[in-house]
Amino acid sequence: MAKFDLSTLVRPKIYSLEPYRCARDDFKEGILLDANENTHGPALSKASSLYQAFKDSELNRYPDPHQIDFKTLVAHFRNSEAQTPGALVNLTKDDKPLSAANMCLGVGSDESIDALIRTVCRPGIDSLIICPPTYGMYKISSQINDVEIVSVPLCLEDFEIDLPKIQETLASRGDSIKMILITTPGNPTGRLVSPAKLEKLLQWSLENWNGLVVADEAYIDFSDIGSSVSVLVNKYPNLVTFQTLSKSFGLAGIRLGITFASEELAGVLNALKAPYNISTLTSTIAQEALTPQSIAQMRSTVDIIKAQRSKLIQEFKEIDNFGKVIGGGLDSNFILVETLNNNGKPDSAFAKKVYENMAINKKTVVRYRGNELGCVGALRISIGTAEENKTLVENFKKTFAEFK
Ligand SMILES: Cc1ncc(COP(=O)(O)O)c(C=O)c1O
Repeated sequence: MAKFDLSTLVRPKIYSLEPYRCARDDFKEGILLDANENTHGPALSKASSLYQAFKDSELNRYPDPHQIDFKTLVAHFRNSEAQTPGALVNLTKDDKPLSAANMCLGVGSDESIDALIRTVCRPGIDSLIICPPTYGMYKISSQINDVEIVSVPLCLEDFEIDLPKIQETLASRGDSIKMILITTPGNPTGRLVSPAKLEKLLQWSLENWNGLVVADEAYIDFSDIGSSVSVLVNKYPNLVTFQTLSKSFGLAGIRLGITFASEELAGVLNALKAPYNISTLTSTIAQEALTPQSIAQMRSTVDIIKAQRSKLIQEFKEIDNFGKVIGGGLDSNFILVETLNNNGKPDSAFAKKVYENMAINKKTVVRYRGNELGCVGALRISIGTAEENKTLVENFKKTFAEFK
């Protein structure tokens, strides 16, 4: 018998929430004087270019709380990826494809992460598993919500999840653990967690644990097309996936995150969220990003980033003070690279000095990650434009020469 039961997993007061009915849910047409909006229009100078650009966008009106058009575009995009030949994660004709009902939108994934924790974790009582090295916001959101963190590190040689250890931890800690947060591709590891392993965990969890397996796929478009497990949420009710427009789509400024879940859980998350969390401006741009032409643009930028990533790795090979790409992670728009001291040893103190010198004296800023588990001497470097990368390599060479 399945151990997973959403009705007992979700906090009771949240499970029974009736979604807020906004004025537009009742009536959409006519003289609309029901939402205390300013029907005189936005207070923007009519001479401004911004006013001209947005004068037809009804910015004086509250945005659509449901965003069905955008969600439908996302569903179509991910379903079609899962139907491309060679996809790692397939949708067969027996699987129910994604629809708008499987989604909840957030102000970036950071809001989605916080919302999910609030939905299932009781403050001061429940806990969740993270798999370090991992994304820093999980800890912060857990702390804000007074939720204890249990760490089950990734296998450090290949940055895969440690399935036996996770199962052991869940078996011994019981249902006080409400979710496991897995970043795939990882941050800072840059490595995709095997979808087959995730499915094994999902299947085992359904039978043995009342909790959620969460795959944070912020960087998924930098992996092979068809690697996303988001399409499996109708098959595994214990699966949640996060995606964002901040990375491959290059839209971090609009703040748009997507949570994929079973229809039932997506309904709960939609009831919990603030009704108007996605602005009209965000939604307009997000819908443009999901047109076939914009998806093609995204793919072409991803290809350029991958080519630049290979070039950078090649150039780093010729620099004595760089060692390996840690864990071999090549599924993201960044690399985690090992910095070696002048004796050829990975060295976090040295990496930190290099990072500071680069940022302060060369105005070239990468991320120091030497304090993370399994990341001795690590710098995390986002892949920039060809020009930025050229300057980056020159500045690393200068810095290492100064430290000889
Ligand atoms: C793994 C991971 N998840 C989520 C986020 C947050 O994304 P957003 O910009 O959508 O809040 C980041 C941002 O760096 C990330 O690395």
